[in-house]
Amino acid sequence: MCGICGVIGHRPATPLVFEALRRLEYRGYDSAGIATLDNAKHITRCRAAGKLDNLENALKETPLEGSIAIGHTRWATHGLPTTNNAHPHQVGKVAIVHNGIIENFASLKKELESLGRHFTTETDSEVIAHLLDLYLREENDPQKAAFRTLKRLEGAYALAMIFEDYDNLLIGARHGAPLAIGYGEGEMFLGSDSLALAPLSCQITYLEDGDWCVLTREAVQIFDFDGQKVERPIQTASFSSGSIGKDGYKHFMEKELHEHPVAIGQTLQRIIDPVTRRITLPSPPFDPASLPRITITACGSAYYAGLVGRYWLESIAKLPVESDVASELRYRDVPQPNQGMALLISQSGETADTLGVLRSLKAQNQHIVSILNVEHSTMGRESDVVLGMVAGPEISVASTKAFTAQLSVIAALTITLARLRGTIDDKREAELTSHLLDLPSKVVDVLSHIDSIKSMARVISQARDVLFLGRGSCMPIAQEGALKLKEITYIHAEAYPAGELKHGPISLIDQTVPVVAIAPSNILFDKMISNLQEAKARGGRILAFTDEAGASRLEAIADEMVILPTVDAFVAPILYAVPVQYLAYEVALLKGTDVDQPRNLAKSVTVE
Ligand code: F6R
Repeated sequence: MCGICGVIGHRPATPLVFEALRRLEYRGYDSAGIATLDNAKHITRCRAAGKLDNLENALKETPLEGSIAIGHTRWATHGLPTTNNAHPHQVGKVAIVHNGIIENFASLKKELESLGRHFTTETDSEVIAHLLDLYLREENDPQKAAFRTLKRLEGAYALAMIFEDYDNLLIGARHGAPLAIGYGEGEMFLGSDSLALAPLSCQITYLEDGDWCVLTREAVQIFDFDGQKVERPIQTASFSSGSIGKDGYKHFMEKELHEHPVAIGQTLQRIIDPVTRRITLPSPPFDPASLPRITITACGSAYYAGLVGRYWLESIAKLPVESDVASELRYRDVPQPNQGMALLISQSGETADTLGVLRSLKAQNQHIVSILNVEHSTMGRESDVVLGMVAGPEISVASTKAFTAQLSVIAALTITLARLRGTIDDKREAELTSHLLDLPSKVVDVLSHIDSIKSMARVISQARDVLFLGRGSCMPIAQEGALKLKEITYIHAEAYPAGELKHGPISLIDQTVPVVAIAPSNILFDKMISNLQEAKARGGRILAFTDEAGASRLEAIADEMVILPTVDAFVAPILYAVPVQYLAYEVALLKGTDVDQPRNLAKSVTVE
């Protein structure tokens, strides 16, 4: 989703902003631009549709000088991803960049047009530049103009603004979309996240919703929505400037797939005592033994991790679980139990729908527990308890290692809640924990034998539609497989519980529709075999992820098999997620699609 950045300093700002935009690329975008205040105190802009390479070429034609600059990567919401719709937007003596959606833009536009103002783009953001210009003319004071502008906006925004003739001023604001300030020596920075700011500064302040800030080269002032001066803490960011290279891999996704073992291992290391081998999570501000229910919510892959968690929490911790995707749960009127627990899962901690549910469940007195990769994100700051995963920066738009890190935390939470609720004894706890601890080495094993995945990928790459089947706690892994395939290869894929096949989707099956089965030899394996026989009998081509024992039974049915290390049923969803994601990657290579930045997608979805 859009990324913004700003620089006010003493060196040429364009290369700094351009580098920050490169670091925001992972969020997904379809055009980009930069505006600077040149040495004559005039605003000049350069914008380009498409990738940053286009902007780089445009900058060669139109170099931008000056030590104050703002930059933007745009993920189109209102208006096509053209150069003309690209940010920064300039009106009169102001230029702005905006991440978010201005929900009342239509009425503002009407009002501004009635004042004789002429709009040149199809974006919602242009109203911000017009308002700012209007109020600047009236007030002759950028700070007052910014304050009045913010008061008129409804919706979500992170903003950076520069003003002609003001050569020591950069103003930022946030409401519903993240924005951070970075501190330097005689220079200050704005960025959508600490990753963008990493080479520039590791001293970071995260603005709170409604905050806006006035940056000069020497100082930062922060105000709340009512214009009162406020103090916000300065934190040291943990992402290093060197942490987003591809390390010799062809794509970030390939690199991140190979980081699964480290992500799982580091996540577990943080919460498992090496001596007692007992899981220690932050103490919850409620009594887990008397928890009436858990509500699990998230979006996309993170939601599928939550669905695996539902199977675990119900069967191991004997807890009733309600689950739904955040965009639906947010608008359902679910009666919440007194003192219930909400479990929210998010890599970025900024996903608008998940954040929306967090706030509404908090208002309904639910205890908010979040599983996050970016712990200092908005969700992190608004949760009662944060359970951090240690996956490191995930740059590829398609989530990979964050998914298995999320599952590792949910597994640890399940064991902890089961212990506290007395649904497992010490022996069972030790067994479950040791299955988790064995995982990283088993995943290394999977990643060093990818030939059979490549062979399966060749079959899938020829297909137009693919069916993924799973059962029990591996059903969400089928959903993850289908999502990943759709996302990065543009092949249509559906996931179904294998038992549901005969209630509808079996009519789709013929030789052209491969059936991918997530089939570890567990308690539901016999039923899965029957379901696959039904598909085979209709001419279906069966591609199975299974283990040694499963392979001997599937030999007669399966056209292709990926044989995985044998693991306990508890951790099978985590292990099986890895080759299923890898399959999508291999198919994408064969199809030649843009693996790291698939069309139309954004990494961090900060609008509803
Ligand atoms: C899928 C994917 C998305 C995210 C979803 C939630 O590969 O990346 O489905 O899982 O947008 O994002 P976070 O976890 O940041 O809340």
